[in-house]
Amino acid sequence: QEKIVIKELAEKLEVRSTEIIKELMLMGIMANINQEVNFDTATEIAEKYGILVEKEDEVDILEEFFKEAPSESKDLKTRPPIVVVMGHVDHGKTSLLDAIRKTNVTSREAGGITQHIGASVVESNGNKITFLDTPGHEAFTAMRMRGAMATDIAILVVAADDGVMPQTIEAINHAKAAGVEIIVAINKIDKPGANPDRVKQELVEYGLVVEDWGGETIAVPVSAIDGTGIDTLLEMVLIVSEMTELKANPKRNARGIIIEAQLDKGRGPVATVLVQNGTLRVGDPIVAGSAYGKVRAMMDDKGRRVKEAGPSKPVEILGLNEVPFAGEPFYMAKSDREARQVAEKVIEKGRVDLIQNTATKVTLDDLFSQ
Ligand code: GTP
Ligand code: MG
Repeated sequence: QEKIVIKELAEKLEVRSTEIIKELMLMGIMANINQEVNFDTATEIAEKYGILVEKEDEVDILEEFFKEAPSESKDLKTRPPIVVVMGHVDHGKTSLLDAIRKTNVTSREAGGITQHIGASVVESNGNKITFLDTPGHEAFTAMRMRGAMATDIAILVVAADDGVMPQTIEAINHAKAAGVEIIVAINKIDKPGANPDRVKQELVEYGLVVEDWGGETIAVPVSAIDGTGIDTLLEMVLIVSEMTELKANPKRNARGIIIEAQLDKGRGPVATVLVQNGTLRVGDPIVAGSAYGKVRAMMDDKGRRVKEAGPSKPVEILGLNEVPFAGEPFYMAKSDREARQVAEKVIEKGRVDLIQNTATKVTLDDLFSQ
């Protein structure tokens, strides 16, 4: 297995070696700067700084195989923004989405903790917005990073009575690393202990200066409980997405990203995918890493059966031969045969360690058993 000297890792990540040694200690590893850590450990540390590590000799077979000429501009159509909701545990991400969707997901979650990336589409003044919820618990770093990578805008939820916390900082780093716009939602302003100014103050330290303090960061005070500021927040999302001119070509072969996947006893491998370009249809052969298959059925975020899904649409699909890794890109192939052949090539070459590593399943039991 490949290794890297801590000193070198620190240089690559542009952080102090002592910081890395501290992180290692938290992981139960005692080391000095001249010692080596293995690839998996280095990856885990890099993730904390919002950096993806890939092996140099890793050629992306799929990307190479499915390379297409750029679309002609006449085929490019405006697509809905993909917005990830991030922030520290319990700061109100799911509640905020509940308020936006007028649903009640929070109350159904085990221990009130989100364990997966939920995808949903919301319509605001005739404009669609795709939202991804993410878990705030510290155990889900990789999931938050995948969330950030697939998106255009990040809503950073900070509870006004708690302020900037470790996973708030992590979320900022991931959003920055992924190059997405950050909109801050200062939540829980209905609470007696709410102090939005303190949140703004704390954010300055992480390079986010809000507009009313002369900076460029949009911050909206909200309450997921009484609904204050929700409309303004949606308006801001639409303004930012208009400025970024998000376009895709619905006529192309579909490609996108696996958001989450699991094995369902009755239905086999089930994957939630986000179409990033093109249109995915029932019957299409697809490949995601070493998983392949024909899309047998598709459900939208409301559980309705759909025949096709265009750009920015999240759908649950059935028909893959195995459970793909979350975060893995998927591609539409020309035929079932091609899908299988390409997947076999991937197996031959060996999978990207990183994705396997970040796809480790964490359950509530794992989190709470000591
Ligand atoms: P994780 O997904 O586990 O990271 O949590 P989360 O950020 O999704 O938080 P969640 O929406 O589950 O809310 C946590 C708690 O805060 C719940 O008890 C909510 O009722 C409460 N809460 C969320 N938003 C508000 C708010 O605006 N005001 C008040 N008073 N409570 C809120
Ligand atoms: Mg949640």
